Order: sequence, then C-alpha cells, then structure tokens
Amino acid sequence: MRSLPIRGSEIYFADRGAGVPLVLVHGFPLDHAVWAGQLEGLSNTNGCRMIAPDLPGFGRSPAIDDPATMAQFADDLAALLDGLGIAEPVILCGLSMGGYIAFEFWRRHRSRLRGLVLCDTRAAADSAEVAEARRQTADRVLREGPRLLADAMLPRLFSEATQQLRPALIEAVRAAIVNNNARGVAAAARGMAQRADMTGELPRIDCPTLVVVGRNDMISTPDEMRGIAQAMPNAAFVEIPFAGHMSPLENPDDVNAAIRAFLTRLRKP
Ligand code: MLT
Repeated sequence: MRSLPIRGSEIYFADRGAGVPLVLVHGFPLDHAVWAGQLEGLSNTNGCRMIAPDLPGFGRSPAIDDPATMAQFADDLAALLDGLGIAEPVILCGLSMGGYIAFEFWRRHRSRLRGLVLCDTRAAADSAEVAEARRQTADRVLREGPRLLADAMLPRLFSEATQQLRPALIEAVRAAIVNNNARGVAAAARGMAQRADMTGELPRIDCPTLVVVGRNDMISTPDEMRGIAQAMPNAAFVEIPFAGHMSPLENPDDVNAAIRAFLTRLRKP
C-alpha cells in the first residue's frame, strides 16, 4: 500500500492497474481488503486503475475527525484523487457505507464522476431510533473496542452459503473489524447516524450507475436496492447469487462480471 498526506494526517490506499480510475470505497467497519477479489480479478484486464483507500480511521489510515461524516469522507476521496494527480472523471464504487459516501461524492463532486457502482447500500437515512442506537454503539466501541461490532454484525453480513462454506473468509473479516481503530469506528458510526436521506435525490442522479446486491443481503435487501435502481434514470440492476451484504467479497466473480459489463457500456460512444 501507498500513502499520501491528508488534512495533517495520511491516507493509505492500494493502487493497481492502469486506465480509467475506479475508486473502491469499503464499508463499515472494514478496510480496503474487502475489495481483494476486485483488486485481483479486475487488474490489468479491463484498462482500469483501481484505487482502494483505507478511509481515515480504518485499516492503516489514522482517524481524523469525530463524527466522521460521509461528506468529509467524500471530500477526502476528492483530495486523494488530487494528490494522485487524477483530474479525469472516475468511476466510484462503494459498498454499503461506501455507497453512502458515493452519494455524497455525487452531491459535492459530480463533475468528477464518470459512473457509480452502488453495492449493497441504502439511500434512506437512519430512523431516529437507529441513529440513537448507533451513537450508543459508538460510545460502547470507545469503551470496549470494535470486537462487539464483530459479534453483532458478522451473522448478518454473509449469505448462508458463505457462512457454511467459507469460515476462513469470515474469520478474516472478523480480524479486520477487531483490529480496526476504536476511535475511527466510533467516529464513522456517528457520521452515518447523521447522514442525509438521499431517496428524494435519486431521480436526479443521472450518471451511468450499476446497482449490485447480494441475493441474500438482509441489511440492504434486493427489493430495496431494486427500488434504488428504478428511481434512478440511468441505472442497471444486478442481483448476485450466493452472496449477502458482502457481495464483492463473497462472490467476486459475478460482481466482477457485472462491473466489466458496466465498464464496457461506459466505453461505448
Ligand atoms: C456497512 O456494511 O457499511 C454497514 O452495514 C453500513 C451501516 O451500518 O449502515
């Protein structure tokens, strides 16, 4: 991984391949490694340059603010692109919290967008109860560490098939959660709690978009994600079999095939 300075701190990122920039934004409370199947499977084959950061407060990147808002993360991505000298429009691909950040990137930096890939995410904001529960979880994470999130979240992140057949993958995700920085995780939980509701904006997001969901996603369900795609004027919808909320990690071959087809569509004049 490489790093660049950002807001008096530094941001780490993987940078693989060459061509059209594809920025891969991880979910909560994970890091760039959730994109291992894309960094491996899409490298060099499709003329795209994959940039997969550890967002500030996750993986190797130190925490900066609290709350860590989706808007600030979006600005950090723009700053990372500036730091890399990338001025051309990018394809922004976000998983779950990464999707919340992708929506903010559209709001704040849309001239820098060539396309969006929204994986297992939601357009709706938290209800008041969910937001309050997140803030309480953030307090507990600061006291007890991120392990409690691994225990609470892991059973809901994966499809039945992944749970039964891929214990090593689930343990790797557990390790990523447990080893994350409590301060960064708590700050992002507070940031998600105050994120904007993007539902009303969906009809205005007209850049080419691919909406991807694991067929067994119980957090951002296929019905909810199909609704997001239908509300957007220029979106394709793909359901990924044998996958839950972590579809890019659980079934990288099918997610990569969907991304490849999307890249081909973007290249057409
Ligand atoms: C994620 O995977 O990023 C989380 O499920 C997002 C959330 O907690 O809303």
